[in-house]
Amino acid sequence: QRAAFSSSGAARAVSGRIAVIGGGQMGSGIAQVAATHKHDVTLVDVSQEALERGRGYMAKSLKRVAKKQFPEDAQAQGRFVDEVLGRVSLSTSPAAAVGDAGLVIEAVVENIKVKQELFAGLAAAAPEGAILASNTSSLPIARIAEPLSAERKRRFLGLHFFNPVPQMKLVEVVRTDAADQQAVDDAVAFVKGIGKVPAVCKDTPGFIVNRLLLPYMMEAIRLLERDVASAQDIDTAMKLGAGYPMGPFQLCDYVGLDTIKFIVDGWHKEGQGLVGDKLFAPSAKLDELVAKGHLGVKTGKGFYEY
Ligand code: 3HC
Repeated sequence: QRAAFSSSGAARAVSGRIAVIGGGQMGSGIAQVAATHKHDVTLVDVSQEALERGRGYMAKSLKRVAKKQFPEDAQAQGRFVDEVLGRVSLSTSPAAAVGDAGLVIEAVVENIKVKQELFAGLAAAAPEGAILASNTSSLPIARIAEPLSAERKRRFLGLHFFNPVPQMKLVEVVRTDAADQQAVDDAVAFVKGIGKVPAVCKDTPGFIVNRLLLPYMMEAIRLLERDVASAQDIDTAMKLGAGYPMGPFQLCDYVGLDTIKFIVDGWHKEGQGLVGDKLFAPSAKLDELVAKGHLGVKTGKGFYEY
């Protein structure tokens, strides 16, 4: 069958179910935001345990949102949380989840083989006109789509959300050379419909945000390695001198030092035109912290202790 799209002039939004594959922080955040904006959502992960964890992330974040929306009304807060969570079905079967999806967003581990195999299966099960999208932050969108048919590639995009998804307004809409303008327009309309702001860009390493953010973070780490200033002073400088909500070390710890290392090492070693690029050269300090398992907020220690 063909996926249904509602058409109202310029604002053409995806009207089928939204399937989100991967119930980690990013996937559950995306599912939460889509459900908050009245989409029926299916969240998929490999086990019931992972799905329950994802539901937990959503419930915690929704309670925060509800408290602001209904400051003095505990009942309304509870109703809001239940209503949004009620629109999110949980599933361990990607094929079943995408059967009636208008949009599929993948947010699983950053491994090209895993993503390619996943999308081969999703393409076989999803309606013909569905948009297939990856939330990857570091892998080329066109490579993830390699195993797919030319028809599927026309509606295959990057949809890159930012952490924390419920709070961050931006979504990068990443177009490959094979993507149709209509698919980009549909994705842009979807992004606006969930209260976010799209930035359309080409499929190049890091898209816009990470291409600028990663060199900034790595240069901050190099300042620390050269003992120019303490992590605290560098963070204070960038918060108060450049207006960033978090300093670079706070942000590194928040994103996860393993994630930062994975992205810069990948670009430095494996390409996309960046092999050997000094902007992404390894850092002994970062390598040491990751080797010790100090990955930031999630492990209780990174550049700071939590
Ligand atoms: N769910 C819902 N709401 C949340 C939330 C969550 N998980 N996290 C924060 N919020 C809301 C709070 O409720 C609060 O709302 P209000 O202003 O309406 O009252 C607001 O966000 C601010 O939160 P706090 O007061 O608790 O704390 P801060 O003012 O320090 O803000 C922050 C927290 C939003 C995380 C802010 O520090 C920030 O914007 N930091 C930078 C984040 C960033 O750069 N993210 C991008 C990382 S890169 C990335 O994701 C790409 C990847 O590919 C690597």
